[in-house]
Amino acid sequence: MSMKVVPTAAVLGAEIAGVDLSRALDDPTFAAIERAYNEYGVIFFRGQSITPAQQVAFTRRFGEIEFNIFGERWSVQGNPEIVVLSNVTEGGRPTGVRRAGERWHSDMCYTARPPRGTVLYAIEVPELHGLSLGDTEFASAAAAWDALPDAMKRALEGRRAVFDFRGRKRALTPTQEEIDRNPPVRHPIVRTHPSTGRKCLYVMRDDCTGIEGMEPDEAEALIAALADHIVKPAFVYRHQWRPGDVLMWDNCTVQHRAIQDYDMPQRRLMHRTTMGGAVPA
Ligand code: OGA
Ligand code: MN
Repeated sequence: MSMKVVPTAAVLGAEIAGVDLSRALDDPTFAAIERAYNEYGVIFFRGQSITPAQQVAFTRRFGEIEFNIFGERWSVQGNPEIVVLSNVTEGGRPTGVRRAGERWHSDMCYTARPPRGTVLYAIEVPELHGLSLGDTEFASAAAAWDALPDAMKRALEGRRAVFDFRGRKRALTPTQEEIDRNPPVRHPIVRTHPSTGRKCLYVMRDDCTGIEGMEPDEAEALIAALADHIVKPAFVYRHQWRPGDVLMWDNCTVQHRAIQDYDMPQRRLMHRTTMGGAVPA
């Protein structure tokens, strides 16, 4: 069976059919996957069955692996590259990161080199009466940029925002050492995708704590207005997970949030890998 790209009905996202990620991909197939990833912002493969090592190998095709603070607490034994996301506790101890990313965000935007993207492999998906719970929503910050009036675009271009690790309430409380390791950084609020050249907004609540050269009140209002603009329903794709899904998003053009509408005994288990990125431009 050959590979097929099937776009969703939304402004972002596509399913990639006809690919088995447990096998080594030949170069033309990988190149086609990477093109679809850059173009659609979110791509997913259904019905996969992969080991942690295979997930790491696939992620590595896109470049270096990035590590994050969750992985230091919950990774797969023998595979420190894989972070476990789960609401399951065993013997009173959490087995993974629980309630990660419930508010709209872009991963690790508080770092100088935010990741290129993130890969989630769904192993257990919560469900009720045969319907899946624990969806993830994705918003196209590129479509949101395109929709802005020209005068607004001109006013935003060249501006930079402050991204502060301390701005967001996290699934776990960071240590002082982690706070010290992540001093505030500045990124352009209009980014250009390194592969496609497409422009997108790079602004979110919580992490963005100010805009250079702007009064705090004015900056706060602008950040809130842009953040709300990006996540309008017209720019959103909502992914309903099935066990065996491998889904990846582009951290430059896409924001995401987890829908927390389930609880034990409904179990959710995902393996997450993160791709290294570059300084935003
Ligand atoms: C993440 C994240 C969302 C989810 O892993 O970065 O935000 O639905 N996950 O698990
Ligand atoms: Mn996230």
